[in-house]
Amino acid sequence: MTPNNIHPVNDLLLKREDKEILTGQKGKVFWFYGLSGSGKSTLAIQLEKKLHIAKIHSLVLDGDNLRSSLNKDLGFSDTDREENIRRVSTVAKILSANGLLVIASLITPKQKFREMAQSIIGKDSFRDIFIKASFQKCKDRDVKGLYAKANAGIIKDFTGKGSDFEEPVAPWLTINTENEEPEESVKKIYDSILKEIKL
Ligand code: ADX
Repeated sequence: MTPNNIHPVNDLLLKREDKEILTGQKGKVFWFYGLSGSGKSTLAIQLEKKLHIAKIHSLVLDGDNLRSSLNKDLGFSDTDREENIRRVSTVAKILSANGLLVIASLITPKQKFREMAQSIIGKDSFRDIFIKASFQKCKDRDVKGLYAKANAGIIKDFTGKGSDFEEPVAPWLTINTENEEPEESVKKIYDSILKEIKL
């Protein structure tokens, strides 16, 4: 709903198609989600590099990075996570509508958050990629030391311990990182997204 006295400009001279001609690709959002430590950021960064080498313009919207800037006022309650995802979805929508390939990387723990992201971005422009690894595997990796903190009770609402992660029902793509090298996972994602961005 538009707030009172606000008049969004909708009759833009340039359309999405005009922008896509310029970037030479379809604007799309590939939304990586999964537990902390599942490999989202690692794969997002490596995918961006691989696309860059192939001269495909992309960018990463990373949960941790945006929580240090745009979203630094937000915590990890359900309400704050929802607001976090709403803001990132809005940014992703603007970028993809301008012909860019966006790789979003956020835990996005609930099905309703993923549905919200899809509805903000638009069904045609949104592809969800579940980065799958069990809680135990992520805990064993504990790259950031957060699982140890959650275990010690220092972090209360940690995803998977104190705060739920809902398994997705039918992801567009699932990448199981438990027994796969990042290069192999990146290749699978790369091969799947190429046809999606072709004009
Ligand atoms: S989301 O749930 O709102 O989608 P987001 O991906 O932005 O989460 O942020 C998750 C990152 O915040 C994790 O990768 C981790 O580094 C950090 N973090 C700090 N506290 C928590 C917490 N309680 N639960 C999950 N991640 C946390």
